[in-house]
Amino acid sequence: MICLILAGGRGVRLWPESTEARPKQFCKFFGDKSMLEQTIDRTMAVGADTVMIVTSQDQAETVEQVVRSGNYDGVEVIGEPQGKNTAPAVGLAIARYFDSRPEDVIAVFPSDHFVSDVAAFRWVLDKAVKAAQAGYLVTIGIKPSYPETGYGYIQADSHDISGIAGVYRVKSFKEKPDSVTAEHYINSGGYFWNAGIFVGRIDVFAQEFARHLPEVYRFIEKGFGDYLASYDSLPEISIDYGIAEKSDRVAVVPGDFGWSDVGSWKALADLFEGDKDGNVLLGPDIIAVNAGNCLVKQNHRTVALLGVRDLVVVETPEVVMVCHKEEAQKVRILVDILSEMG
Ligand code: GDD
Ligand code: MG
Repeated sequence: MICLILAGGRGVRLWPESTEARPKQFCKFFGDKSMLEQTIDRTMAVGADTVMIVTSQDQAETVEQVVRSGNYDGVEVIGEPQGKNTAPAVGLAIARYFDSRPEDVIAVFPSDHFVSDVAAFRWVLDKAVKAAQAGYLVTIGIKPSYPETGYGYIQADSHDISGIAGVYRVKSFKEKPDSVTAEHYINSGGYFWNAGIFVGRIDVFAQEFARHLPEVYRFIEKGFGDYLASYDSLPEISIDYGIAEKSDRVAVVPGDFGWSDVGSWKALADLFEGDKDGNVLLGPDIIAVNAGNCLVKQNHRTVALLGVRDLVVVETPEVVMVCHKEEAQKVRILVDILSEMG
C-alpha cells in the first residue's frame, strides 16, 4: 500500500506553539515526537510499502529534516510550488503512480491528527483497503459528539456493502455544513464526522478526478515528470469539496480509535488525563500551586501558576499566551491583531 501524508496546512489554532512558519504537524505535544513523525509511524503500522509526504515547497526542507533525523529511510518528500489545497496535492501523488501502479491502493492521511489506539486504527484501515480494492473511495467515519461546523459529515447507508462487513456506502457527504445543518445531522443520527482519511485505488482516484475535477485529471495524465510547470494552473480546492461531495463511489468505515484533529488548545487538553487538580502540564519546568483545570505548554522559561483556574498558558521563545480555556478556540483573533501590528 502507498501512503500519502498531506503536510501543507498552515493552521494557527494552536498558536503560539503552531505558527505560519511552524505549523501544527511539526509541533510536539505527545512525548518527544512531532505529529508528523507520529503520522509516519502510523503509516508503517498499517503496512505501507511506500510513503510519500506532499508539502509546500517552503516547508519541504523542514520535512526532509524530520525524515532524516527520524531515520525514515525511503520516505519521499515532494514540494508543491504553491499551496492549492488537498485535491491537487492528492492529484500529485496519483500522477506519481498512475502509470506504474494503477491498481495499487493509496491511503491519504492528514499530518496533524492524533490517534490513541493504533491497533484499532490498523483494523479499520484493513477494512478500508479491502473496500478500496473492490473499487470504492473509502472514508473513515467518527461518531460525532457535537455539531462541529469545521468537519465533513458522512451519511451512511444502513446496510453494509455485500462481502465487506462493516463498510457502508455513503448516501451523502457534506463538507463543513452551517451550524443549523450540523445540528440537524447530529439530531437525526446516521451521520459520521469525516476523519480526513481517504483510501482508494490509484485508477479509481484518477477516474473520479476525470469526472469531477477534469483539470486535475489532465494534470495526472501528463505524468509526474513535469509537475512543477503546470501545478500553478490547477484549481484551488479540497478533496472533500472537489471529490467526496460529488462522487457516487464513496464508502465509509466507522472507526473508534481515539481520533482527534486537535483543533484547539481545549481539544488538546481533553486528550490528557490531567493531574489530581485537573491540570495538564506539558513541559519540565512548571509549578502549579492551588491551580486547577489549566493547560500549560512550556518550552524554555519556567512557568509558575498560583491560585488560578481554567487557563491555557503557552510559553514559547517569542510569545507567552494566556487565555481562558473556553476562549481557546479564538486565539486566531490574537494572531490577526499581531500581524496587523506588524
Ligand atoms: N500538501 C498540502 N497542500 N497539504 C495540505 C494543503 C495543501 O495545499 N492544505 C491542507 N493540507 C493538509 C493539512 O496539513 C492537513 O494535514 C490536511 O491536508 C487536511 O487539511 P485541513 O486544512 O486541515 O482540512 P480541514 O481540517 O479543514 O478539513 C478536513 O479534515 C476534517 C477532519 O479534521 C476535511 O477532510 C474534513 O472533511 C474533515 O472532517
Ligand atoms: Mg484539519
